[in-house]
Formats: sequence, structure tokens, C-alpha cells
Amino acid sequence: MYLTKEEEQILNGDAGETLRQAIEILVALGDIYGADRLIPIKSAQIAGVSYKTMGDAGLEWISDLQGKVKVPAILNPAGMDLQDWERLRISPEFAEKQKLIVQAYEKLGIRCECTCTPYTLEGFDVGYGDHLAWSESSAVSYANSVLGARTNREGGPSALSAALLGKTANYGFHLDENRVPEISFDVEYPLKGSDYGALGYVAGNLAGSKVPVFHLRSTPDADELKALGAAMAASGAVALYHVEEVTPEICRVNFEEPSEKITIEKSQLDEVYESLKKACKEPELITIGCPHCSAAELEKAAKLLRGKTVSKEFWIFTSRELAKRYPEYVGTIEESGAKVVCDTCMVVSPATNSYSCVMVNSGKALAYVPGMCGAEAVYGSMEACVEEAVGGAAKNVAKKGGDSN
Ligand code: F3S
Repeated sequence: MYLTKEEEQILNGDAGETLRQAIEILVALGDIYGADRLIPIKSAQIAGVSYKTMGDAGLEWISDLQGKVKVPAILNPAGMDLQDWERLRISPEFAEKQKLIVQAYEKLGIRCECTCTPYTLEGFDVGYGDHLAWSESSAVSYANSVLGARTNREGGPSALSAALLGKTANYGFHLDENRVPEISFDVEYPLKGSDYGALGYVAGNLAGSKVPVFHLRSTPDADELKALGAAMAASGAVALYHVEEVTPEICRVNFEEPSEKITIEKSQLDEVYESLKKACKEPELITIGCPHCSAAELEKAAKLLRGKTVSKEFWIFTSRELAKRYPEYVGTIEESGAKVVCDTCMVVSPATNSYSCVMVNSGKALAYVPGMCGAEAVYGSMEACVEEAVGGAAKNVAKKGGDSN
């Protein structure tokens, strides 16, 4: 891989040990994947934040690093709400370690916003064709597919290295030739809301790591695209997809239709709702916000919960910035007894491990909760999640002065 004179000097250790290690990681990846050079990036999103997955070895590694990031960088969800961790019964020992991890990242100049939806943050704009170094699989999928930006699915160390150098190796989804559709999915009936997460769950299994193109009979909005991509990244390893006449790249580039074509039947989506529900009949915990809720999803949850009281634990995950921006939605949700939780999620927090059956409205959470949290997971729309949390239609009595819309 070609390196500039300055990059050679960094590799020789002239700019210190942290940058030497950082460029060594990027050069090693670039050599493996055939990159020709390092290219500048606009931003980084760094995974490897939860103490649940990092452990003491990860904490030690981060704490030893020196210097400052060269591009705007934020973190993936941590293992707890950094300001209100006691509410989900996180242990003080875990909280102490988690705070040390986040402080170590902050010392490197990384913005202490722990979210898998960086594209919703102010000052973190992403444009068509921008090169990024993002880690979290749903964020990578959204950046590549919905925003038309370019990022590989970075590991925590490579995203951090890219942030410290302001560069990444030029391979994979940074290159035109790897962004071409390889498999086509036809869906011959209209979809709505959580159907897109169910579709992603099915399509990801079939696509593996190929780039799919979808031919749909309905036009997904941004949250539906987010759910589709998140589920495909979890049940498969899809980091880029196209939706005919919807996503920006396929609207600009004249791609050839792939020869591999699959029609997804309605019965396959019904199975996601129905057969998995048989796994556990009585969810003890209801969670939404995987990926983190957008403003529109917070608004919808607030409308659904207004005037009601939940009878089960109900956690709604979002970024701290959005929770601060929309206190009225947070207030309405919390009046019901549901909890708006920031900086973390149902998968990376150890809090979920205390439950044996969890209801989700996310294809990604459906794929990850069993393995990461040791709980069975069932799938439903946001409306179904709210209904389950308030105890079903029979007990769903609006409080005086409230309404159920
Ligand atoms: Fe985000 Fe956690 Fe889901 S990181 S995509 S909410 S598993």
C-alpha cells in the first residue's frame, strides 16, 4: 500500500506510540484487503464501549492511548445509561468500570454521545459520497444505503485508529466496484412499520454478505429503512443495500439487475411474527429503540402511551441528544411508567440478562437478544409492544384526561 512521506514517519513512530499503533492497524487491514492507499474520512463512530463486551483488557488498552482524534468521533452504545444507571439496576462495580471506559475515550477528544444513530446528531452531518469509519452494523448500513456515504464495518480498534489519523484504508465499500447489487429481492405486497424489520430478518439470512437490491410495492420512510438495514446486518452481514427508486445511489447510478433473484412471500414475514412468538408466550420485558429511536419514533411511542400505565418493564432506547431535544415526548412516555433510557441498549446492557423473555420491535434485537442476553425474544410492531406493556387490550384503560391516539 502506498504511504505518503508523513504516513511513513508515523509508521516509524516519529509521531508517538499511539499513532504508530493506529497506522499499523490500518496498514495491516489495507494490505489484507488490497487497499492502494489511505483516504481522508469525515467522521468516525467507535464500537467497543460496553464494559459487558470490553472487559478489563479493553479498558486497559483504551486507557493507555494518548493524543486526540482528528475528525468528529462518537461512541457506540455503552453498557448503561451514563447518568441514570441505577434505574436499570446496574451494579456499582459495573458502573465504575463503564465510566472509566467512557472517560478514556473522552480524553482522546471523542464526543461522549453513545449511540448507533450518529446520523441524527447535530454537527455530525453525512453527505452523499462521504468516506467514513463507522463501526456499528446498523449505522454502517444506514450510512452506505440511505445516505449514500461510504464506510466499511469497522471494528472498534480500526475505527478508533481511523479517528486518530483522520484516515482509513481505501478498500471494500469505499470503492465503486463493491457497491454493485449482487442479489435481487422482490416483495409483491405493500409493507408497513415493523414489516420492514421482519423483511430484513428474512432477507439478511438469504443475502449473507451480498449487496441486495429490493423491488418493493411500498415506499419506506427513513425509520423503516433503518429497521430493514439493521435486521439484515444482524441476521446476515449486509452492510449496503439498495431500494429501487428510493435509496440515493441506485437513483444516480445505472446498476445492472443481478442474475440471482428471490421473491419473498408474505408467509415468510408472517413466520417472523408468529413462529417466534411461540418461543416464549409471556414477555417480562418490552423494549423498543434498536437502533436508537428517532424523533418520529419517540413521538409515536409518546402518542401510543399517552394516558396509559404500563404493567411491565418497558424500556425505550434513544440517544441522549434526542432525549434532551424532545423533553415533551420523554415526559409523556415516562408518565406511563415506561423508561426512556439513553447511552445504551437492550443488547449491550447487562440489565437485559435478568429477564428470560423479551419483546422487541426490531429484527436486529430479535437476532441478538438470545445470544447476547440469554433471553428468548419475540417480535411485534411498536403498537403490539405498547399493548403488551400496558397489559393487553382488556386492561388498556386510559387515565382520566388522557387519550389513546
Ligand atoms: Fe443499536 Fe444496540 Fe440495536 S447498538 S442497533 S440498539 S443492538
